Amino acid sequence: MSFAVAADAYDRFMGRYSIPLAPQLADLGEVAAGQRALDVGCGPGALTTELVKRLGASAVTAVDPSDPFVAAARERHPGVTVERASAEQLPFRDREFDSTLAQLVVHFMADPVAGLREMARVTRAKGVVTACVWDFALAGQGPLSVYWDAARELDPDVEDESGLAGAREGHLAELFEAAGLHAIEETPLVVRVEHPTFDDWWEPFTLGVGPAGSYAAHLDPERQAELRERCREKLPAAPFVLIARAWAARGLA
Ligand SMILES: C[S@@+](CC[C@H](N)C(=O)[O-])C[C@H]1O[C@@H](n2cnc3c(N)ncnc32)[C@H](O)[C@@H]1O
Repeated sequence: MSFAVAADAYDRFMGRYSIPLAPQLADLGEVAAGQRALDVGCGPGALTTELVKRLGASAVTAVDPSDPFVAAARERHPGVTVERASAEQLPFRDREFDSTLAQLVVHFMADPVAGLREMARVTRAKGVVTACVWDFALAGQGPLSVYWDAARELDPDVEDESGLAGAREGHLAELFEAAGLHAIEETPLVVRVEHPTFDDWWEPFTLGVGPAGSYAAHLDPERQAELRERCREKLPAAPFVLIARAWAARGLA
């Protein structure tokens, strides 16, 4: 997966949307002082930052399979325990955490139900498991929807993110149920991000981050320019505010 990239590239491509998403996911997970929380698939630490704000560094643990992201999360969050691990095999004892969260990760898990089941295992009884995935569905409203719409118009066979786990309404709740969670609720979360110029929006797509960045990086210069101009046609004139939706679910362990 295309997350063996510098943390700074991630910040510019996705951090701009995941940082404002984090407080909303933490609210859904009812993260509050006195708890111990686990951030699964922490990346460079958008959600970790919010958890540290609420709980203090020593009460926060984070995992990610990407070496550069683990290094960045450790450097950015002194006092937080950061391990290199995947959701499907969490290196923790049963019921260690009060709240276990995965922000924008379920769709990258090799086995989403196994990953959520592991998240439930390490969460105390009646503790909260929370996750969200951008709305990547066809005609969806995720932060990358304009990009993938344009890519599909130019290449109907493009492998976009619309079929990934949790990326359409209702699917995260189904996965939570299959993982054995209880009292499941699904809700949309919305962020609003201002882009001062078109280039501010476009340039991070060329940094090779995630499936979208990887797709752009593998296009020849002409095709990439064609995609960029198709995106420009679809977006409002700059400055513009991009309103992006994620599907989020919570359940009790
Ligand atoms: C879109 S990023 C989200 C990062 C961070 N949570 C955020 O909100 O900015 C997806 C992250 O999931 C991680 N990841 C991919 N597969 C994973 C798995 N099976 N278990 C845990 N994390 C995984 C990637 O390395 C990457 O850091």
